[in-house]
Amino acid sequence: MILPIYTYGQPVLRKVAEDITPDYPGLKELISNMFETLDKADGVGLAAPQIGLPIRVVVIDLDVLSEDLPEYKDFRKVYINAHVLETSGEMEPMDEGCLSLPGIHESVKRPGHIRVRYMDEDFNEHEEEVEGYLARVMQHEFDHIEGKMFIDHLSPLRKQMIKGKLAAMLKGKVNCSYKVRTLK
Ligand code: NI
Repeated sequence: MILPIYTYGQPVLRKVAEDITPDYPGLKELISNMFETLDKADGVGLAAPQIGLPIRVVVIDLDVLSEDLPEYKDFRKVYINAHVLETSGEMEPMDEGCLSLPGIHESVKRPGHIRVRYMDEDFNEHEEEVEGYLARVMQHEFDHIEGKMFIDHLSPLRKQMIKGKLAAMLKGKVNCSYKVRTLK
């Protein structure tokens, strides 16, 4: 089932999301719905707060990029109760967008290397060192479960430049091809 994506202004996007337990009701279906929603919206990552749930569930699908980045062929993964333990490396700029901020794309600086802890779909715990594009996407998605969005990382000047678009979004004016749930 395709779920509407909550856009900027929705309070759930600003909550620190909670860990879940293996008995979370309907988890398998939720994960499958999140992948379907992500696929439909042509995104690479989706966090549960973006579909209105303040829980620490993230799906990432990099297979769509595998023509350019063959190392990500068939890369579709679920991250449950994820936490970034450590960041290192130089701050690198890269253009980012977000399904909850349709029409906004900005360069964001993030560390190139991270250490993360999470559980997979079967609640096995993993600790990994990650770099490259995956580290970028993970940091963006794991920000969502901390109540953060990529625009929080912008300079005051860049924030000023997108003020109008954000104000329009709060009034429910969004232009995108997927189903959204705006504040108004
Ligand atoms: Ni996002």
